[in-house]
Amino acid sequence: MLNEKIAKLINEQINKELYSGYLYLDFANYYEDEGLDGFAHWYQVQAQEERDHAMMMRRYLIDNGVRVTFEAVAKPDKVFKNTTDPLKAGYEHEQYVTSLINNIYAEAYKIHDYRTMQFLDWFIKEQGEEEKNAEDMLKKMHLYGNDAKGLYALNQELLARVYAPSTTGPAM
Ligand code: FEO
Repeated sequence: MLNEKIAKLINEQINKELYSGYLYLDFANYYEDEGLDGFAHWYQVQAQEERDHAMMMRRYLIDNGVRVTFEAVAKPDKVFKNTTDPLKAGYEHEQYVTSLINNIYAEAYKIHDYRTMQFLDWFIKEQGEEEKNAEDMLKKMHLYGNDAKGLYALNQELLARVYAPSTTGPAM
């Protein structure tokens, strides 16, 4: 049986991961409207990964005897002034998610919940990759986004992203 506080934090994190997916679908909606189908596609794939993160946490709680409960998922309310804004928001959001995962890890460490620490190891690594991806996108946009040909090429590159369920992550 998991510690009550840890179970609550992971249950809350399921909601945050579902919100992340919802937020990224909102980014995709924006890019579809702007005619940037590659950017939209990239965030649509990202939303699928976020749902997977939520499912991994749900499975972990269930497998540890916790009754999972769902709350309402918040409405994405970001307003974008230009096509770089979602990328900035995405990078900031991933840094925020890293802080949430780190917080759960710190709580698990405090009470010697080694099982949860081990479960979270994959997420700690994943957050490093997610932050890097978000930062790389932002850098590329700054480098190439101001030129029509550069933006077109970047859009095509993002269009090539393929969704694949993680083969290294926790069970879903
Ligand atoms: Fe589930 Fe983008 O972190």
